[in-house]
Amino acid sequence: MLVLGIETSCDDTATAVVRDGKNVLASVATNQDAFHAKYGGIVPEIAGRQHVALLSAAVEDALGRAGSTFAELDGIAVTRGPGLIGSLVVGVAAAKALAFALHKPLYAVNHLHGHIFAPFLDRPEAPPYPLLTLLVSGGHSQLVAVESATRMRILGRTHDDAAGEAYDKTARLLGLSYPGGPELDRLARNGNPAAYPFPRHRPAGDSLDLSFSGLKTSVRYFLESPEGSGARREDVAASFQAAVVDVLMARLQAAFSRASYAGVVLSGGVAANSALQAAVRAWSSSNGVTSFIPPPKYSTDNAAMIAAAAYYQRDAIRVDPLALSADPNLAFQL
Ligand code: KG4
Ligand code: ZN
Repeated sequence: MLVLGIETSCDDTATAVVRDGKNVLASVATNQDAFHAKYGGIVPEIAGRQHVALLSAAVEDALGRAGSTFAELDGIAVTRGPGLIGSLVVGVAAAKALAFALHKPLYAVNHLHGHIFAPFLDRPEAPPYPLLTLLVSGGHSQLVAVESATRMRILGRTHDDAAGEAYDKTARLLGLSYPGGPELDRLARNGNPAAYPFPRHRPAGDSLDLSFSGLKTSVRYFLESPEGSGARREDVAASFQAAVVDVLMARLQAAFSRASYAGVVLSGGVAANSALQAAVRAWSSSNGVTSFIPPPKYSTDNAAMIAAAAYYQRDAIRVDPLALSADPNLAFQL
């Protein structure tokens, strides 16, 4: 099953050609960071306009790199939501037009489901179920029990900032440029993670929910204090990162201990974080748990994961090209 994937939920204009949800023949992502960096965050209006300018060429580019033609495609997969409405509509309109004109099946994919299947791209294994997924991105942070390709349940979610958002906001406090997550990760490598004991959020009772706004605020107050103004930025970055990783690992371990899982998936943009990856790897190897972590090109937003989700969920998410509309608040459950 040869699928063209289109992903425009946020600020990356991404296209891909993927066979059977695994074999990535091409995956192209045009990053818009340069257009948003001076504003310190994504400007939705600019993102939408950039998608319009870039998407047609990105589709041709993916097909060209894959050595495929429109005629060879078995379907077109597009992110329906959640995301920025002005960005989503561009990909959805393009995918509808292609599917209609080419008489190809159209698959409407939930962006978050794409992240769940990302670790299985370019790897021989099929996803083993049930999976426990820690999905941490710029817009979302949640623990998901994936019982099958189409049955998924959110076990815990953030009450405020997503993990990536906390990274980006804290990076900004440290004077790093947008998107700050990767830069903060780099800075933290030369810092002492035990230098400052920033707070670790603990949910009430047996909740698996997350929260990062208290941590971010505490870093801000610290940096404004006399001690903080003289602190090494590397130490502040490493201490912040240690708190995020502790919180995520505590919740992952708690969820894992409550049911039996065939493996653990780390996905979303923050899955690229070196400290989080190291912590998940160390925990899984010392507990005999199989972990699946995508390489950075598949952990941040990409269209190959959208084509992969379409492959695994194909019977449940096929839609009529004329009826599809983007949904910025698309529900998680199918
Ligand atoms: O999944 P993604 O590409 O977009 C969303 O769907 O949100 O995630 C982007 C987020 C940004 O907040 C970015 O700062 C964060 O992932 N990120 C990282 C790292 N690489 C990307 N955060 C921490 N460490 C990293 N190495
Ligand atoms: Zn994402």
